[in-house]
Amino acid sequence: MKLIVAKNYEEMSKLAAEFMAEEVKKKPEIILGLATGGTPVGMYKELIRMCDNKEVDFSKATTVNLDEYIGLSGEHNQSYRYFMNSNLFNHINIDKAKTFVPNGQALDVEAECKSYDARIRELGGIDLQLLGLGSNGHVAFNEPDTFLTVGSHETKLTQSTIEANARFFDSMDEVPKTAITMGLGGIMQAKKILVIANGEGKADVVEKLMNGKITTEVPASMLQMHRDVTIIVDEAAASKLNK
Ligand code: PGA
Repeated sequence: MKLIVAKNYEEMSKLAAEFMAEEVKKKPEIILGLATGGTPVGMYKELIRMCDNKEVDFSKATTVNLDEYIGLSGEHNQSYRYFMNSNLFNHINIDKAKTFVPNGQALDVEAECKSYDARIRELGGIDLQLLGLGSNGHVAFNEPDTFLTVGSHETKLTQSTIEANARFFDSMDEVPKTAITMGLGGIMQAKKILVIANGEGKADVVEKLMNGKITTEVPASMLQMHRDVTIIVDEAAASKLNK
């Protein structure tokens, strides 16, 4: 795994955006795996700026997102479809028909998960997968557990994740308790992985990702088995790593 320590959030965001833009330049018809959350917002802003300046062109790219809350429509302002539209897709030259997010309102969640995985397969797999890290070690909504699931699946969010996500909702009760998430198998099949993390709250999980034992209790630790992972963190998130 390749670690890059940026000075701060702004620099992390810029480096991560440049990393992704470079991959898009190499392969304009790239399949990008994208993530939501607080961490990538700055990176997406930078990609929008680069796209405005014609430094990156998303017109041939396809995107697949990691997860979506069950029960929220794409119009709900806390759904991940809404997040992606408002933080990235509405502002870059991507064909929205080629942006995929699991359908949180699917009547048959299992069928939705199967077709999501089938779509990724039909696309030929993900070229570059962007990942944030949960402070509890989750990647996408693969939560710490005694087992992990290979394919996309319905998952129950842990209390710590519900609490972490409550900041985006008016009250804790409104935070969905279940989600559709890509599985660890889907994530590990990406050809390249880019992990971003910032702030002291991520220092423990970054340390475990870099140096910890591989365990389903820290799903991010699985990434140690992937052959092409780049981790871009700020100094605070790197603060528990041995200098
Ligand atoms: P965050 O979430 O970017 O909002 O910290 C990351 C995650 O939970 O995967």
